Amino acid sequence: MCGIIGFTGQAPALSFLLDGLRRMEYRGYDSAGVALCGASGDRLDIRRAVGNVSELEKAVAENPPDRSARCGIGHTRWATHGAPSERNAHPHVSPSGKIAIVHNGIIDNFAELKARLAATGHVFNSDTDSEVLAHLVEEAAGNTLAEKVMAALTPVRGTYGIAVVSCDWPGVIVVARKGSPIAVGIAGSAAMVASDPAALAGRAERVAYLDDGDVAILTPGSFEVRSLANTPVDRPASPLDIDPAAVEKGGFEHFMLKEIFEQPEALENCLRGRLLPDEGTAKLSGLRLGPREMASLCNIVVTACGTSYYAGLHGVYAFEQFAGIPSRIEQAAEFRYRNPIVSPDTALVSLSQSGETADTLAAVREAKRKGALVLSICNVVGSTIAREAGRGVYLHAGPEIGVASTKAFLCQVAALEMMALLLGRTRRLSGAEGAIVVKALESTPELVRAVLAQNDRIATIAEKYASANDAFFIGRGYQYPAALEGALKLKEISYVHAEGYHAAELKHGPIALLEPAVPVVALAPQGPEHDKTLANIQECRARSAPVVAIATESDPAIRAFTEDIIEVPPCPDFIAAVPVVVAEQLFAYHVARLRGEPIDRPRNLAKSVTVE
Ligand code: AGP
Repeated sequence: MCGIIGFTGQAPALSFLLDGLRRMEYRGYDSAGVALCGASGDRLDIRRAVGNVSELEKAVAENPPDRSARCGIGHTRWATHGAPSERNAHPHVSPSGKIAIVHNGIIDNFAELKARLAATGHVFNSDTDSEVLAHLVEEAAGNTLAEKVMAALTPVRGTYGIAVVSCDWPGVIVVARKGSPIAVGIAGSAAMVASDPAALAGRAERVAYLDDGDVAILTPGSFEVRSLANTPVDRPASPLDIDPAAVEKGGFEHFMLKEIFEQPEALENCLRGRLLPDEGTAKLSGLRLGPREMASLCNIVVTACGTSYYAGLHGVYAFEQFAGIPSRIEQAAEFRYRNPIVSPDTALVSLSQSGETADTLAAVREAKRKGALVLSICNVVGSTIAREAGRGVYLHAGPEIGVASTKAFLCQVAALEMMALLLGRTRRLSGAEGAIVVKALESTPELVRAVLAQNDRIATIAEKYASANDAFFIGRGYQYPAALEGALKLKEISYVHAEGYHAAELKHGPIALLEPAVPVVALAPQGPEHDKTLANIQECRARSAPVVAIATESDPAIRAFTEDIIEVPPCPDFIAAVPVVVAEQLFAYHVARLRGEPIDRPRNLAKSVTVE
């Protein structure tokens, strides 16, 4: 989950590196550093600091490096080996100080490699696996920096996205990828690299995404891609269509709040051109599936992690409701190891905002090994999961910077419902029934706007509960995944211990925890299980637990149980989770804000979990 940046061109590199690191801080922020490669000289300029990029900027100001250097690399770290510290911060250098490397990933056999090097006299200055790579590159044979990197990586097992510079090859950056994302870009006389294309927005004119096994050699204004065996690889570059403004906060206090308020537009972008009202169906050409192939599917497995998993559970309900296809949800980390039962008539639908989550990627690969039809729903274009699945749906939600996923979740729900609609129309779902689903999906941006308009009211309600240390979120049917998601939002940004539970399950044990200090957020919009949920709310009130209800506007029954009601507009049950989850997002956001938490960069978390 680290951030990697690199620049080589005809302009000073330092400001590009620092700006790129600031844009990627959400990927990891326990330390940061840069290495600058001047036009000549026998050592590289290294600056590193514990903490976020602002600490690195202080270190640079206090001890200015060679500001004229036109080539350099940078790194912002999320610790996997070795505690967050200056000595473990990247870049790491080789014994001679002539080679520097930044690394994202985990070297599985680093201990063996390190011991072998130490036996020949190598001395290490950190606890990291990454430092071993710098020593390996220096030791490796080769007439060029690229050849040395290729040779050094040959014995390496594990995952890496690396960038390497050497003062013996000024102006050259060698990058390589295996399991961790790398994008390389060009603009005029500059070439650049980043682990997230958003860091190149407004900088690169064209971008290429490396595949596992690729090695790219960057020189001012150009790059060449080769294999680890040093054979040419064709990796075409295409225009980068990320709006630089989209990477900034746009006047909001936090990226998360900006992205919550972007959700109407994100949904509009996700749905655009994909709904066919007259035919009562959807068009998802990225699936590259004809009606006969869709009609022949016998079961669906949805796999994901975290928030994407909860969106996936919503999708399972929609697949069964609209398409009548037996469907199940699986934690990606379980799926990849438990030898799951899938077959050629199984569709594996992988969900991942980043498209880089290691467990989800591994599940995709396992499903491919077993012959399943693999589909992906991702937000990041060109991401590994999207490319390895080879077919799927992009969310078009725009960059999601806040670590807590918001707009991606809503767009995942919308994408899954469009997929369920499409599959349903190859089976028993009629055009008229499909048109109802199309109409409901078309209404989702307005449903979200209605909830956003209650932001101040939700903030007021949040004030009453901001000091709670425990909370429950309960729901039934489509509101059950929504309850799980609401609990995750609250716990991951406010650090309040929150549990999502099926409303009927509370009485099977957890209700023992209810007391006046434990609020219950009850999801009770109009729907087939509304009355049953009211009964569950009564159970909570009978234990003196305060209740925050998220209910349909003007619901006459709910007021008997609480005055803390967040109202959502009336809508069909199968999309009611959309406005409900927006209410949960805002509730969690305001609780975290009132508790003074960092929100965009919660402790211990990273935006993309690219390690197991
Ligand atoms: C969600 O708010 C969390 N940041 C986390 O659970 C996230 O959803 C999970 O890590 C999966 O990420 P992905 O969608 O990029 O695969």
